[in-house]
Amino acid sequence: MRILLFTGKGGAGKTTTAAATALQAARAGKKTLVMSTDPAHSLADVLNLPLGPEPVEVEANLWAQELDIYYSMRKHWGSLRKLMLEVFRWQGVDRKIAEELAAIPGMEEGSAFLWIEEYAREKRFDLIVIDSAPTGETLTLLSLPQVTQWWTSKLFPFPRMALKGMGKLMGGVMPLAAGLEELDSLLEKVEGVQKLLSDPEVTSTRILVNPERMVIAEARRAYTYLQLYGYHVDAVIMNRILPDIEASGFFADYVASQAGYISEIEESFSPLPVLRVPHLGKEVFGLSLLEKVGQVLYGERAVDDFLFKDKPLDLAETDDGYVMNLRLPFLEEGDVKVHGSGDTVTLQVGSRRRHLFLPRFLAFYTIKEILHEPPDLKLFFEKRAG
Ligand SMILES: Nc1ncnc2c1ncn2[C@@H]1O[C@H](COP(=O)(O)OP(=O)(O)O)[C@@H](O)[C@H]1O
Ligand SMILES: [Mg+2]
Repeated sequence: MRILLFTGKGGAGKTTTAAATALQAARAGKKTLVMSTDPAHSLADVLNLPLGPEPVEVEANLWAQELDIYYSMRKHWGSLRKLMLEVFRWQGVDRKIAEELAAIPGMEEGSAFLWIEEYAREKRFDLIVIDSAPTGETLTLLSLPQVTQWWTSKLFPFPRMALKGMGKLMGGVMPLAAGLEELDSLLEKVEGVQKLLSDPEVTSTRILVNPERMVIAEARRAYTYLQLYGYHVDAVIMNRILPDIEASGFFADYVASQAGYISEIEESFSPLPVLRVPHLGKEVFGLSLLEKVGQVLYGERAVDDFLFKDKPLDLAETDDGYVMNLRLPFLEEGDVKVHGSGDTVTLQVGSRRRHLFLPRFLAFYTIKEILHEPPDLKLFFEKRAG
């Protein structure tokens, strides 16, 4: 199974290109699902079809699905939801508000993990194309496994023992055992899906960008954080490029600055391939326009080809230990803070943190040297004394 994830600033063209990609794959004979995780869904509009929270068959080999948080919660975490509802209500929260609270932020994204886990387990599709929410939310989704611990402590601020006591206090009405069991299996599934999403043999992320300043800035940030979290990006898609014909009219200034942004994108993301899609001169919806976008995007190439194979994270042996190489483009020296302890290394860029859980054996090593030669960050490990 392959997973392709489309991310980028709102309006850049994620839904359009994700749908076009899925259509192209389906027509090449791959069983394909395009799944929207953006709470502000527009996949149905782009496909010009009614969709629902379960996959809807669009045509041969192609299914589409718009995730619905309430639906997903009932389906995938019924017991956990009941438990949370009881906890909130026990704290005196009104039922309706408790329902709202039980749908904590990040769950929309989180529920995507559970669907992916199910599809992967059942081997239901050859390809899953994820039309994700704007960059910020997507990063929340992708860093989810890293924050599950934080997350569960928010969900259950009480230690489990206390919860058990509470369950008894309430006369056993709280569906405690089932809820906790579900929580454990949930965490296990989230971890499993993270393995899929961070496996470059399975998942490739494609970043949408338009030749506009703000959009480029966001694409760069997205790229940096994706590398930081260890997710593999295999292409940048430059969408809605205006043709030169516009150069003399109303869009003259826009087209003139566009040329600069186009080369800026090509240069700064190099050696990543940059796929180009021109502005089609109209809104893109319906299968025939999507087919056109797909053809411009990939030409004769298969959409699920690995368009770029460089690894964001690499561990190699040295004479006296190991060196871990992380590729973090767009960061200057001094932008990354590294803290190491035990078998965990924490990288901090601004307010975002990534915990790198090192291979077990590295617990016997310490960081000897940190070398930041942009775009590479090298951590040298040497064996602990004694
Ligand atoms: N290549 C293109 N040419 C013309 N319009 C486009 C093109 N790509 C996207 N659009 C239009 O831009 C708008 C935003 O695209 P969309 O794919 O919904 O962005 P996102 O999912 O990133 O928010 C839509 O109205 C879409 O029809
Ligand atoms: Mg969209």
